[in-house]
Amino acid sequence: MRIIKRIGLGLVAIVVLAVVVLYAGSEWTLRRGYDVALTPVAVPHDAASIAEGARLAKITGCRDCHGANGGGAVLLKDPMLGTIASPPFSQVAARYSDAELLRAIRHGVRRDGSALFIMPTDAHTYLADDDAARIIAWIRSLKAQPTDSRETMRLGPLGRGLVLAGKVRPSVQIPEVSAHTRPADVGKYFVDISCAACHKMYEPSPAHHGNQIVPALAPIAAAYDPAAFRTLLRTGVGASKRDLGLMRMVAVAGMHALTDEEIAAIQAYLTAEAAKVPAQ
Ligand code: HEC
Ligand code: HEC
Repeated sequence: MRIIKRIGLGLVAIVVLAVVVLYAGSEWTLRRGYDVALTPVAVPHDAASIAEGARLAKITGCRDCHGANGGGAVLLKDPMLGTIASPPFSQVAARYSDAELLRAIRHGVRRDGSALFIMPTDAHTYLADDDAARIIAWIRSLKAQPTDSRETMRLGPLGRGLVLAGKVRPSVQIPEVSAHTRPADVGKYFVDISCAACHKMYEPSPAHHGNQIVPALAPIAAAYDPAAFRTLLRTGVGASKRDLGLMRMVAVAGMHALTDEEIAAIQAYLTAEAAKVPAQ
């Protein structure tokens, strides 16, 4: 009897220790501070800039994850993984300065210096100063709505385990790679700030959400007929007409805002890149 009790106590101690390690270890990653300097940004206030910011917020996926009108959204709710929620932009704007918003968008650093998670900063870090400023102008134009999400990020035990194991990484990007103004070659630029959030150029990768495989972008885009490529980005319906899942969703939620010229530039850039792939 006594032995069984002792084994039981031992097991309880092991479980308690595991919980402490899981909690403390993940908390260290979640709270760790990053030293990324704030850079001043001139945010425009005119209607055309705000409208362009609203369009860019579609193309770069902000309105996919933060709600079509920027009211925030719950991306995932699971007792083990936790709640993955994007905050309403009006709430964020009230707390953040323009420079802090710029740093959060391009470098994935929260106002207090800790890391943001889930944000696709590997793509957004390429946003030029002028375009990032337009997105910030749009964010500043939004008013709080009764329909805004009230959920906040809260990781469950499995979510913390994934952070501890490095499977879910902080969205922090340290080096400064952005240009001052939108470059002349918008093809490469739009691929960098948008498509690269999911696609690799030459090799397939598993999708962030679910287990869909994301095809290597350069060869598949080069093989597309230009009109069919436009239809794909506008409607999410590809040449094969089968359901493209996540690709359909991002096209419907955001890529449709690309102009014909931008789509042609994207394809021209990708076709040139595909020609560079060394023969296997
Ligand atoms: C793949 C989904 C996704 C996309 C795309 C996305 N976000 Fe986020 N964003 C999130 C999530 C989730 C959080 C909360 C992260 C956290 O608390 O760790 C967040 C947090 C933020 C924050 C910090 C808010 C705070 O409370 O500290 C800002 C600012 C922000 N996002 C702006 C943007 C902008 C602007 C864009 C587009 C250029 C964008 N996001 C695109 C999911 C996304
Ligand atoms: C949020 C993730 C995401 C983003 C952003 C994204 N894609 Fe995709 N894309 C996917 C996924 C997933 C597939 C695979 C769909 C399938 O095969 O079921 C795909 C497939 C494709 C295909 C192949 C379609 C076919 O007929 O099989 C092309 C071409 C493509 N994407 C182009 C683009 C371009 C260009 C951009 C940027 C303007 C872009 N994608 C942005 C996730 C994304």
